[in-house]
Amino acid sequence: MPSPKEFIDHELAMLSNQVVMWRRHFHENPELSFHEVHTSQFVYDTLCSMTNLEVTRPSPTSVMAKLIGDVPGKVIALRADMDALPIEEANVFSFASKVPGVMHACGHDGHTAILLGVAKLLSGLKNEINGEIRFLFQHAEELFPGGAEEMVSAGVMEGVDLVLGAHLWASLPVGLVAIAPGPLLAAPDTFRITIIGRGGHAASPNETIDPIAIGAQVVTNLQHVVSRYKDPFLPAVVSVTQFIAGTADNVIPGSAMLAGTVRIFDKELRDQIPEQMKRIVKGVCEAHAATFEFVYQKGYRPVINDANVASQLEASFIRTFGESRVENAEPTMGGEDFSAYLEKAPGAFFFIGAGNERAGITYPHHHPRFTVDEDALAIGVKGYVNAVFDLM
Ligand code: NI
Repeated sequence: MPSPKEFIDHELAMLSNQVVMWRRHFHENPELSFHEVHTSQFVYDTLCSMTNLEVTRPSPTSVMAKLIGDVPGKVIALRADMDALPIEEANVFSFASKVPGVMHACGHDGHTAILLGVAKLLSGLKNEINGEIRFLFQHAEELFPGGAEEMVSAGVMEGVDLVLGAHLWASLPVGLVAIAPGPLLAAPDTFRITIIGRGGHAASPNETIDPIAIGAQVVTNLQHVVSRYKDPFLPAVVSVTQFIAGTADNVIPGSAMLAGTVRIFDKELRDQIPEQMKRIVKGVCEAHAATFEFVYQKGYRPVINDANVASQLEASFIRTFGESRVENAEPTMGGEDFSAYLEKAPGAFFFIGAGNERAGITYPHHHPRFTVDEDALAIGVKGYVNAVFDLM
């Protein structure tokens, strides 16, 4: 009788090709957030064809599978996201997107394929499982308010002791995995500022209240939030990404709209920054006799890895892959609704290296030519499956 780890290596060799085929199927048939109809049905059907799984639909486009072991023990949840992005794919490979304007440009096709591979492998090891493994195939990671919150509300985290998630990572070379305790992904908040002036003839600015000139000062003054107001040891980003105003060369418009994003890890700072921003907008507008509207929308919570789970996961990766292939994950200001699960149970999120400079796989996430080195898929399956046994 082979040990579970020998069984895993043997099965993985057989399964790797299948996981690549699944990824290509998802890549070719991408669906936008909250519209993962075909994808979730494919996942549901594939899971139903495996043994020992209880498969359910927590929401219209998500899927959950439970693998209940023979012996009681911990409940470990593993999460993959399944949605694509509104991007026209520029890759020309045979399995490029068949859907105009929609593309798996973040690697969620790979996440879904990896987790199917993990489910396939573990479902054959039911008698070796102490406790329960719960597979969460989540919809809508890319679009606030996100699918994670919906799945949590549907009860998928009830009784869960720890939760793991991963992202294929373009800036990390294939062959490596990365994990770290503490802050990993920021809270991605958004804001919208409307500056209301008084429009008129561009040749008589004295008869107007020019929202463009005022808006330009608002943009400049907002830079003080990060450079002057906050503790330099707390990371934050304030980016104005839209400035929309005007219709003609000779018309001063009546209003201007600014919008953008704020990225923060620290909870207190997250409460302070919107107030500082509003104070700046109010001050600049009042100085120039304009009025304003300020809307601040808090996005996903930051992803903060549990120190204990992260260190166990790191030890597991070192056992599985060797020390030279396990890196310390660098925090990024990107956001992830994996944080919704972390509200309910300790857990950790890790990165699976998917870049390969020699193969030209260098484009960043959300780029029309983004892709992953498919060798990363088997590495993801192997990392997850061994982690389950090590953390169980
Ligand atoms: Ni993503």
